[in-house]
Amino acid sequence: MKVFVPIEHKSGERRIALTPETIKKMVKKGLNVEVEPGAGDKAYLFDDAMTAAGATLGDGWSSADVVVKVTPPTAEETRRIQAGALLISFVAPHQERATVQALVDGKVNCLAMELVPRITRAQSMDALSSQASIAGYRAVLLAAARLGKYFPLLMTAAGTIPPAKVVIMGAGVAGLQAIATAKRLGAVVEVSDIRPVVQEQVESLGGKFIELPLEESGEGEGGYAKQMGEDFLRKQREIVHRHVAAADVVITTALVPGKKAPMLVPASMVEAMQPGSVIVDLAVEQGGNCELSRADEEVDHNGVIILGPSNLAAGMAHDASTLFGRNVLALLEDVLDDEGKIVLDPESNDVVAGALLTRDGEIFHPATAAAFEESGS
Ligand code: NAI
Repeated sequence: MKVFVPIEHKSGERRIALTPETIKKMVKKGLNVEVEPGAGDKAYLFDDAMTAAGATLGDGWSSADVVVKVTPPTAEETRRIQAGALLISFVAPHQERATVQALVDGKVNCLAMELVPRITRAQSMDALSSQASIAGYRAVLLAAARLGKYFPLLMTAAGTIPPAKVVIMGAGVAGLQAIATAKRLGAVVEVSDIRPVVQEQVESLGGKFIELPLEESGEGEGGYAKQMGEDFLRKQREIVHRHVAAADVVITTALVPGKKAPMLVPASMVEAMQPGSVIVDLAVEQGGNCELSRADEEVDHNGVIILGPSNLAAGMAHDASTLFGRNVLALLEDVLDDEGKIVLDPESNDVVAGALLTRDGEIFHPATAAAFEESGS
């Protein structure tokens, strides 16, 4: 069986779907791994490291049994994959309609990384988590590098410097890593989330939970947040206002699956912050948690710096690729039978039931199928 790893062409992308570590493991299992020459260059994983791990170099788009990728392939790339082959990649099926159509037309089977269910058994395959955790970590480093203040409390010969105050909105995977990172750097950290279950996790990391008047839990299906009404969001903004106004750094990661990100930091709140403060909005691609953030731009609003980085994981390409590669390997191992054949059976495999996007020329994933039907495509 041939596994192909192509170059990622998306602008700003530096990751690769497999690294020498995971290639070695696949080769040991009897798989042939072919890497497109230069695919690992931007992660400083050069061709010689790939071949030393047992890969060959080549253009395996149309001869591979499995194509593994980080970012969604274009429709044109997808049309090069042979019928019956398996694609494992982030696909963004709600946005990349042409790619999904090409998967269907070309009878390419696809396990979409963002559809891997968030269940205990699938944690090792969960690329949303591995990459979100990097984003949370790097958001704090970005903010620390821009802030004209120390993060830790420092007692120096020239007197004491107080610790930085950091407010984190949304304590999912990215937010929890942001809390841990900001605490390691010595900041005082306050956190807002609408899922009560998060409070204990926040406190175990040394963060202070900002209590909200929740009449009902903000937890919805699958452990994710549910969409809160505008009345609640207004109350939440009133409560977090004074915390944000006093913060040196605000990191926002609040998302609601399938919906626009909740607007938690309006312009008036930004205007209450001290000049020189920094906001990092990780929800920018879903519409942003801050009214003033713009994707991959730096906004200066009365001296408050607002950053909206859309792909922070790509900037830490070595470890992001290492973890992504391990997620891919775990998923592939999960669908290989004892004879090394791929079995995509949603009946017997709950991970396949969640992650299977297309199979045998049809859209298997119900929400994607419904969206296609609705739009008549
Ligand atoms: P996410 O990226 O969808 O959302 C990030 C955070 O934003 C969530 O904590 C959410 O509650 C919060 N949020 C939404 N609206 C908000 C508002 N108005 N104010 C403040 N915060 C708001 O979430 P992510 O990181 O994907 O994780 C979601 C859940 O899935 C968590 O419970 C996590 O522990 C769980 N999970 C479980 C896994 C497993 O068991 N295998 C793996 C990964 C995550």
